[in-house]
Amino acid sequence: MANDIVREIEVLKEKRKAVILAHNYQPGEVQDIADFYGDSLELSRKAADTDADVIVFCGVDFMAETAKIMSPQKTVLIPEKEAECPMAAMITAEQLRKLKAEHPGVPVLSYVNTSAEVKAESDICCTSANLLKIANSIDSDEIIVTPDKHLANYLQTRVKKRIIPWNGYCPTHAKILPQHVMEQKKRHPEAKVLVHPECRLDVIELADEVTSTSGMVRYAKISEAKEFIVATEVGMLYRLKKDNPGKEFYPATELALCPNMKKINLHSVLISLRDMKHKVVLPEDIRKKARKAIERMLEIS
Ligand code: 13P
Ligand code: SF4
Repeated sequence: MANDIVREIEVLKEKRKAVILAHNYQPGEVQDIADFYGDSLELSRKAADTDADVIVFCGVDFMAETAKIMSPQKTVLIPEKEAECPMAAMITAEQLRKLKAEHPGVPVLSYVNTSAEVKAESDICCTSANLLKIANSIDSDEIIVTPDKHLANYLQTRVKKRIIPWNGYCPTHAKILPQHVMEQKKRHPEAKVLVHPECRLDVIELADEVTSTSGMVRYAKISEAKEFIVATEVGMLYRLKKDNPGKEFYPATELALCPNMKKINLHSVLISLRDMKHKVVLPEDIRKKARKAIERMLEIS
């Protein structure tokens, strides 16, 4: 049955001249049929570079929007309309305009986990992979950072600038507590601890490495360690295990599951390609402004 769907997807992909991009948290069956899987930064680069006519984006809303921002001439499809990132929804363009008015002249660094409208109000974007590099490139002693307060708190510990955070957070990463990591460390004392910067600062403080999802894959590959405790969304374990046979990976907690990242499956990818849905559509003025913020990021990273 699954094999039949995979074959149908392959046929439709050819017919539509489509490419399938998938985030590292996507279900294994979706990663396995993707032409490319990766973190937000890698996926935004792929979306900008592909020569396919259609991009099927298996991830959440802001990722598919980023693909459309970078490749407006292509059709960008997201197989599940409701695959939304709750953190990205925690700040609106109106709220950001108000924050900017309270801090006139302070540059805005928005995490890529934001809507196109919020990106359009931002000076530059960053992802978990280039956060420090981008922040250090900004010629100002103060930076507004949206929407993730945990990412902003982490940044504040690493740069000499004053960080003005927005109060958003990732509900999935917020479930990871220091005691989860400590319990796993007791069980696996030799394991290295990999932490995503969306985690709370008291979890980040326990890390051997703070990095993006694909950064975790690279770290695990080159590390001499054989065991790793992984403080991020549990879907990451699939990718880590697949790329590192012979090494062991333990989730900090199984509670860290992002339901929005699990909405897409093989069936919805098939329907998406068959019926050409759901198309990402953005107003051109917003898209152009948002693109500037992403392009600035890509130039630096
Ligand atoms: P990465 O860019 O590290 O893949 O993270 C995206 C994300 O949504 C994490 O919750
Ligand atoms: Fe958004 Fe968090 Fe899910 Fe990532 S894990 S998509 S930040 S809710």
